Amino acid sequence: MDTTTLPQQMIAQLENIVGQSFLFSDTATRTHYGHDETEDYNFPPSVVVKPANAQEISEIMKLANIYKIPVVPIGGRTGLSGGALSIYGGIGLSTERLNSITIDEKNLQAILGPAAITQQFQEAALEKGLFYPPDPSSRGSCTIGGNVAENAGGARAVKYGVTKDYVLNLEVVLPTGEIIRTGANTLKNSTGYNLTQLMVGSEGTLGIITQIVMKLLPKNTHNVLMLVPFFKAEQACEAVAAIFRAGVVPSALEFMERDAIDWGLRFLDNVNLNVKDEVQAHLLIEVDGNYPDILFAEAEKIMNVMEQFDIDEVLYADTEEQKNALWKLRRTVAEAVKSNSIYKEEDTVVPRYELPTLLKGVKAIGEKYGFKSVCYGHAGDGNLHVNIIKGDMSDDNWKNEVPKGIREIFELTVSLKGTLSGEHGIGYVQKNYMDIAFDKKQLGLMKAIKGIFDPNNILNPGKILPDVI
Ligand code: LAC
Ligand code: ZN
Repeated sequence: MDTTTLPQQMIAQLENIVGQSFLFSDTATRTHYGHDETEDYNFPPSVVVKPANAQEISEIMKLANIYKIPVVPIGGRTGLSGGALSIYGGIGLSTERLNSITIDEKNLQAILGPAAITQQFQEAALEKGLFYPPDPSSRGSCTIGGNVAENAGGARAVKYGVTKDYVLNLEVVLPTGEIIRTGANTLKNSTGYNLTQLMVGSEGTLGIITQIVMKLLPKNTHNVLMLVPFFKAEQACEAVAAIFRAGVVPSALEFMERDAIDWGLRFLDNVNLNVKDEVQAHLLIEVDGNYPDILFAEAEKIMNVMEQFDIDEVLYADTEEQKNALWKLRRTVAEAVKSNSIYKEEDTVVPRYELPTLLKGVKAIGEKYGFKSVCYGHAGDGNLHVNIIKGDMSDDNWKNEVPKGIREIFELTVSLKGTLSGEHGIGYVQKNYMDIAFDKKQLGLMKAIKGIFDPNNILNPGKILPDVI
């Protein structure tokens, strides 16, 4: 399927649907919408369209089915698995005009356009005393539709869950053009198959989300944030499970190995932190709630656990400014690594007690295949981001040897009862590792589901499912 040029007649029909000023075929626009944050890939769509509403999207899908032209939904382009890449050209459909945010205070819900920026939504909720916990590092530019499509997580998932835990109902344009609602605006729902949750995490392959109804929580008033330096990286991972066994559920429990901190600090010039040479890793730990006394008691419990390990002096963030600086440092790791080198970002996830074994295994596999990795992530969820650095490795090794190492990392992950991705999705770059997590029967079921929704295989084709099943 290669559709680098579209039939002229089709372009005219697309223009009729979206209006001339919302169809773009110039190289600059196509290149802009041809990449997300995945490695150094660029797959420009043949045209970019920016429809105004679900009705226009429906008409675009009907037209695309007539001509059998692929359509790729595009959100904030912050994805790390290539979900928004137009790998076969075709129509790049940016949802950016559907960006409304309505907070329903009476029901503690929000009604959102898919292109609402996650942070803007969080802030709109906070203004009304409400809280939307999922907090991906890219919150300043990622969209809520993309978050739903990837089932995004972020640092607070350990206590509050991921995007799926907040999605109540969706409006979706199906690949065949019909507009449906997937459920109801209720907190409970045992009514039939769960189409809402089938759409969540389907990476823009089963439908184009045009409206999202989200659950909100009352906002918290207080938190305590501490940074714990460890002399041994594996011990930092061991400490993670021990915190929960001591009876505390932190609102964030993040792991950063030494390079992640160092590269982050070099990338940001306004964050200062003194780290001793011998420190190998940090845990960034937050507890939140409404009662400071309880939070301090919980922090003390965590400290008692930490003291069983080989740690340096703990840094408590005293001011909002300090808290923001530490979070900025944590959020910037992926970008900092990217600014240093081409890299492949893996999103391994295991039951949290297995984290030390995973980290050790990743490093051993790196040594075997000759690559360096920078590891960090949501340790409380057992979710370790493994950034494999190209550095000065030859293109040949990068292309042929590294994928073997990645395969071994995923095999290790699955042998530990974990899986390939905790929050970044499979998309384009991990699809040919899916056989490690699923057998032919399971993959066949997924393919059959895709076929029911999208008989012509035109909505975001070539994603999630392996090339050969
Ligand atoms: C993070 C993104 C990369 O955790 O998932 O920073
Ligand atoms: Zn993450």
